[in-house]
Amino acid sequence: MCEYTNQNDLKHSMQAIDLTGPAPIQEPQRQYFFIQKARQHVMEKSEELGRPLYFHCVTFGCQMNARDSEKLCGILRQIGFLESDGEDADFVIYNTCTVRDNANQKVYGRLGYLNTMKRKNPHMKIALCGCMMQEPSVIEKIRKSYRFVDLIFGTHNIFKLAELLTAVYESDEMIIDLWTDTDQIVEDLPVQRKYPFKSGVNIMFGCNNFCSYCIVPYVRGRERSRTPEEITDEIRRLVEDGVVEVMLLGQNVNSYGKTLKQPIHFAELLKRVEEVEGLRRIRFMTPHPKDFSDELIEVMRFSKKICRHLHLPLQSGSSRILQQMNRKYDKEQYLALVGRIRNAMPDIALTTDIIVGFPGETEEDFQETLDVVERVGYDNAFTFIYSKRTGTPAAAMEQVPEEVAHERFDRLLALVQKNARSAAEKWQGQVAEVLVEGVSDHGDGTLTGRMSNNLLVHFQGPKTLIGTLVPVALVDSKGFYFIGEWRGVV
Ligand code: 5AD
Ligand code: SF4
Repeated sequence: MCEYTNQNDLKHSMQAIDLTGPAPIQEPQRQYFFIQKARQHVMEKSEELGRPLYFHCVTFGCQMNARDSEKLCGILRQIGFLESDGEDADFVIYNTCTVRDNANQKVYGRLGYLNTMKRKNPHMKIALCGCMMQEPSVIEKIRKSYRFVDLIFGTHNIFKLAELLTAVYESDEMIIDLWTDTDQIVEDLPVQRKYPFKSGVNIMFGCNNFCSYCIVPYVRGRERSRTPEEITDEIRRLVEDGVVEVMLLGQNVNSYGKTLKQPIHFAELLKRVEEVEGLRRIRFMTPHPKDFSDELIEVMRFSKKICRHLHLPLQSGSSRILQQMNRKYDKEQYLALVGRIRNAMPDIALTTDIIVGFPGETEEDFQETLDVVERVGYDNAFTFIYSKRTGTPAAAMEQVPEEVAHERFDRLLALVQKNARSAAEKWQGQVAEVLVEGVSDHGDGTLTGRMSNNLLVHFQGPKTLIGTLVPVALVDSKGFYFIGEWRGVV
């Protein structure tokens, strides 16, 4: 399951390294130098302890973070660590999220437990990285109350893990390396994919939207796109390595390419990705409704590979609240967009993100949200209670009482679940193409896979099907997933 973005380059880079000289200035060569250096430290420690060293990586938050963690794990493997599934490892890293306060609280809670583990294993090193670390107040708190942490870095410099880990092994101080922003994109480092047959692919980083509730633009910096050539080359290499499905990742994929020397639209990028031979499925996340072009709808409509699923964050159904949120669309524009998408692709599954209890939200505003949810009939929705994020404009607005937000949340969730159930039931009796992802966690040996519309299906079949696309009859709808029957031959 271990994959390198370019095996040959990697071998070449590792062989040519002279550790007696200074570290190269150029990236990623500099990081290959530090991978070797960190490797020496790990080997020494391992000899001293008479056993291999283990790492454990915990990911909080979104798909972007999940992809970042695959990069962290790839580097750690290359440094010589083995992976452990428990927090009793020799190097524990938390890749954090800060989009809502409960994500932060989880990290603080688990840090207390890590401290007890570290007392038992004095060789243990603890690292924190990701979005939460980009907040100065968090760093202050960790410096003061969690002094046992060895390394802190942020979202812009995860590629530097080997260099920072070397510094950790060569110093007794807490190492902190935080960048406020960057225009640097360093790829071509080792990556360890979670799945051999599907992969996320970053197409852009950062966000320029500044929705008034959202901390992401402050912690992920300004928008930067990778060139279409870099992206399609990476996808080609992934396909050679067994990948059949890619998820193109960006905070707002619709503004992809705007800042490139040769600007290009997301719809054009999709056309180029479609041409990659051997690739079977394309997904993307997340489009912003404000710049969802008709051209993109057309490209999706005629594509053979783009999945019939669109995650289109609504956030609120009230035009007044949408304006306060700085979303740059209103209720009517959102519904009109959904109409255009459904006209072009009647079978498409639509999912969304909704926030309840945004500052100033009245019962009437909330009714508008329920109205959109009812009219769109989402296949599923992620619903969130507004969480106040320091430094964002909404934090200074008049807050909705907690019990009011909770009560609205419960009503919204009930409606979302009712709609999801009836959306799934429509598929009952059909045969769908399913990408088999693994053994289901039902514990009965059944396999689990995903339809193009992202619905989960559990069914009996041999494990050799994992990683392939197979026809499955959708026999019994369980609301959010199906029990199916495999209709294929091996
Ligand atoms: N409070 C609650 N939910 C939020 N989201 C982003 N910021 C906040 C916040 N401050 C939600 C949005 C976004 C999803 C990733 O998280 O719905 O689409
Ligand atoms: Fe992802 Fe946003 Fe959380 Fe960062 S803050 S991990 S970008 S959801």
